Amino acid sequence: MRIGVIGSGRIGGNCARQAVKGGHEVMLSFARDPSKLEALASELGANASVGDPAAAVAFGEIVIVSVPWGVIPEALAQGGDLSGKVVIDTTNQFGSGPMPAAGRTAASFNAERMPGARYVKSFNTLTSGFQEQAAARDGSDRVVQWICGDDQAAKDLVAGLIQDMGYVPVDLGGTETCGVMEAPRRHGAVYGEEYRIADAQGVVDAVRDGTPIPPTPTYD
Ligand SMILES: NC(=O)c1ccc[n+]([C@@H]2O[C@H](COP(=O)([O-])OP(=O)(O)OC[C@H]3O[C@@H](n4cnc5c(N)ncnc54)[C@H](OP(=O)(O)O)[C@@H]3O)[C@@H](O)[C@H]2O)c1
Repeated sequence: MRIGVIGSGRIGGNCARQAVKGGHEVMLSFARDPSKLEALASELGANASVGDPAAAVAFGEIVIVSVPWGVIPEALAQGGDLSGKVVIDTTNQFGSGPMPAAGRTAASFNAERMPGARYVKSFNTLTSGFQEQAAARDGSDRVVQWICGDDQAAKDLVAGLIQDMGYVPVDLGGTETCGVMEAPRRHGAVYGEEYRIADAQGVVDAVRDGTPIPPTPTYD
């Protein structure tokens, strides 16, 4: 698949790296220092290129938006029309910029800021360093990347990409009920915690039923 990346830093850069390892093509975009994009593209080889955000949107069957919260409006403005595009939002609501109202998820807030996009949120719950290391795992040790969104076919496409990157995709449901995967790290949430597949279904069931999730698992 072709993946356009808007914001190719710690998280977007790792997504690009793992996508290329998984056999996909990436176009990197959006940086104050374009030499960083060129350096990452040359590290990733022939399946990576550099463009501006609008070019990354045009290129991508999937577009990854991975910028600091306060920069989202600028990044989306530079990306242009997202109609019909499957968009993965990795962002967390830290720092400046417009915020979701109390009780509203960041995912539903951001989906509304991307009119026409087939919105999926993922890659936001674990640190970039951990995501990079964990992508090398196999079998039951693989790490869960939670996804949420309101377009099932978009989520299915993203789930395939996540698997190719070396993680286990787990669908937590829609954008309005995915609060457990959002910042901040706290008791009763999956945000900031490692999960493996054996412990994921209990979370999915609890979110579906609107009940507290099981205690956070620990791993050796
Ligand atoms: N870091 C984590 O562990 C982590 C984990 C989960 C989710 N997240 C979320 O994922 C998103 C991205 O985080 P990150 O840590 O990957 O951020 P990051 O490393 O700072 O990367 C952001 C990218 O956006 C570019 N950028 C920033 N401001 C810009 C501007 N004004 N104009 C143009 N380009 C700009 C940066 O390029 P330049 O530096 O060259 O400008 C950089 O390539 C955030 O919303 C964060 O909350 C982060």
